Amino acid sequence: MNLNPNPTRPAEPADWSFKPRLNQLLHSLRIDVAFERGAGNHLYYRDAEGRDVAVLDLVGGYGSLLFGHAHPALVAEAVKALQTGRPTHAQGSRREHAARLARDLSRRAGGDYCVLFGNSGAEAVEAAMKHAMLETGGRTFIALERAFHGKTLGAVQLTANPRFREEYGLSGLKVVRLAANDLEALEAAFASVTDLAGFIFEPILGEGGVRAVEPEFARRAAELCVARDVPLIADECQTGMGRTGVFLACETLGIRPDYVLLSKSLGGGLAKISATLIRRERYQTEFDLQHTSTYAEDDYSCDIALKALELLDAAMLETCRERGEKLLAGLRQLAGKYPTVIADVRGRGLMIGVEFRRRERSSSFLLRFLTTQEDLVYVIMGYLLNVHQVRVAPTLSDKFTLRLEPSALIEDAHIAQFLRALEEACVLLRQEDALRLTAFLNLGPVAPGATTRLVRNDAQFTAFNEPRLRERQARPAGVKVGWLCHLVDSDDFLSLEPAFARMNAPERERFLEHNVPRLAPVVMSAVEVRSLAGDAVRFFPILLPVTSRWMKRQLEARELGLPQALVQQGVDLARSLDCQLVSLGQYTSIVTLNGTQVAPRGMGVTSGNSYAIALAVQAIERAQAETGLRPEESVLVIVGAGGNIGRTCAELLAPRYRRTVLVGSARPGARLRLQEFVKHLPNTTAATDPAALRAGDVVLVAINAVDAPLREECFKPGALVCDLSVPSALPGSAAASRDLFVIKGGIAALPYGEDLEFVGFPLPRGQAYGCMAEAMLLGYAGVRDGTFAGNLSREHVLEVTRLAEAHGFSLADYKRACVFGSQTKEAAYAGIH
Ligand SMILES: Cc1ncc(COP(=O)(O)O)c(C=O)c1O
Repeated sequence: MNLNPNPTRPAEPADWSFKPRLNQLLHSLRIDVAFERGAGNHLYYRDAEGRDVAVLDLVGGYGSLLFGHAHPALVAEAVKALQTGRPTHAQGSRREHAARLARDLSRRAGGDYCVLFGNSGAEAVEAAMKHAMLETGGRTFIALERAFHGKTLGAVQLTANPRFREEYGLSGLKVVRLAANDLEALEAAFASVTDLAGFIFEPILGEGGVRAVEPEFARRAAELCVARDVPLIADECQTGMGRTGVFLACETLGIRPDYVLLSKSLGGGLAKISATLIRRERYQTEFDLQHTSTYAEDDYSCDIALKALELLDAAMLETCRERGEKLLAGLRQLAGKYPTVIADVRGRGLMIGVEFRRRERSSSFLLRFLTTQEDLVYVIMGYLLNVHQVRVAPTLSDKFTLRLEPSALIEDAHIAQFLRALEEACVLLRQEDALRLTAFLNLGPVAPGATTRLVRNDAQFTAFNEPRLRERQARPAGVKVGWLCHLVDSDDFLSLEPAFARMNAPERERFLEHNVPRLAPVVMSAVEVRSLAGDAVRFFPILLPVTSRWMKRQLEARELGLPQALVQQGVDLARSLDCQLVSLGQYTSIVTLNGTQVAPRGMGVTSGNSYAIALAVQAIERAQAETGLRPEESVLVIVGAGGNIGRTCAELLAPRYRRTVLVGSARPGARLRLQEFVKHLPNTTAATDPAALRAGDVVLVAINAVDAPLREECFKPGALVCDLSVPSALPGSAAASRDLFVIKGGIAALPYGEDLEFVGFPLPRGQAYGCMAEAMLLGYAGVRDGTFAGNLSREHVLEVTRLAEAHGFSLADYKRACVFGSQTKEAAYAGIH
């Protein structure tokens, strides 16, 4: 089945040398379109067949395109400016165009202002900050939570989102932040600051989710500024220039600010220009020389801005109001029809926010997952672009709100097109149809003939259930431990999201891989696991949303950067949950060289291998007992004995067998080391020839090979084979052979049989893999360091074995399933159930 609605778009990003991380993210959402042209309300790109595709643009240059793309009158003004040779650079001369623009802006702002020009919104904010500091001597600004004022070093101090700000804090400059419309907090903030430099606010918090400041709040702020003789600074970079249906949004708040900041649509969508308007009686004339910029005040930008102001007459302001009302009414109707999808519609004029509900209780795992990743609205954005050719975007600081900033030229047909498209998204969300909502991510042709086996599991709705997790996390807990894991394969995903059975396995694999750059680890459950000794740990499985196949491929290509970064994110998540220790399951320990390549962030880290080895030894013992094989009469062969796991197993097992053969690499150094090693073990010899395997009644395999090299013929018929290799050293056919007794080690039984609620792993209730159980055991023991990471010894295994006995953990079963994904899932499930 081909769910890809638009297969003609190029799949690969054009250029990774510019903002590679951002490009990767855009690519993963399939919004990395190279637009060739913009006109009015549309952007145009050429598809793979060379057709011009029109996209309705409601992002509107983040508010810079009130006049649409390439407005003819503004383009004509720009052309005229260039053709007549008007100077861009004539600094230190009389800048008449700038002066005219300043007069015009001052008049339109309804006061007597001195105007400074800059090139961007953030520069307008910087100029305001500097001037406020100069005139008041203060160093503390009062700003709002959710505010956005730019990202330059000064402006970013006022911006609320800590992700943009924290790394760049300036000492000396202070910001007191309060929630918009909280009058009490406003009074308290003014009362608490002695060296106040000013109060800055956006009349409608744009980046913060299109949230309006109420008139009462704004008026009280203005009064407090007067009382303290500090400037009231209105950042109207986004709300100004008619965006909300009046020239300045402050007009509807009944205040006249001391400073007004303008940018975005001031440049008519063509020029980069901003303005800082400062009330004349406050203006410090020395600032003329103190604050300059090479590019500011140029004739070209000023002429375009003058033309934009000319276009922005009373009729156009009325159009902004009327168009906005029309769009808002349509959206409110939609919100009424889909109350479980749309949480709120808000805004004024052509600045509108549509807030989506978090889908944390969705029956779809993927929708819950996207909610936690704060990725849901980005996916809606990708869906609308790829399926409906409509461009929208959430704000960076409120990721569940779409911010719509259409041009004043938006027509009824455009509004209808958008509402239709959004309604389709609403329908998919209401139906929890993650498959269709995300189908646009399914790239390229699909491999033929792939079949899918649907693993139905009612528990899928309980896995990764955020409200439930929060409730559990709120309960007091002693020790917390994390365990990192990933999807075994794309079939695994089905147990979480059965609807994806409509895709075949390669499609699903591709879907998951495509999303790797964007998705981060998530906590799947939180379960109290008690020990017989009376201890308890809270166990957090943390899922990395990648498959074994992907991990294996990165390992083969020796590209460990991304896998290691993902593991680190998982470790950081465990840290944020207050875990004392984190265990690295499946490939997460392999790609981090048994945990030595992660920063532990003050936690204990374990590869989980010690208890895995202990359980393997116990499983071999049980298999021997079941098959009547007597070790003292048998030959043990260990393949991969040069490696750490092989050596540790040899130390534990060799003394029990009649004879032991350690098979290692033929490389001279490795060979010598192995020959030295066997001297310390009884009845043990070293070999390099793989033919030695045929002698083994019991064969333990712990090698590092990616191509499953050990076929059935390598072993003695009837041999007991324990394969600890990751990836598996035996191909599926050998693992399923009736002539061999193949196990992957052992599985632990929890003393009280708790359900780990981990859908996707073929584990019966009350059972845990070695690496999971090791996290619990080391948690009981209070381990907080890296003792159990890196290379292991016999002592590590014995220590964990002692802990297991003390806490009542035992061998439950053989591990036949390959949790690393190189055996067929069918074989894995058949082996377990
Ligand atoms: C209110 C406000 N102030 C300042 C800025 C910063 O503008 P720029 O990105 O041009 O620096 C923005 C940008 O979105 C804004 O919305």
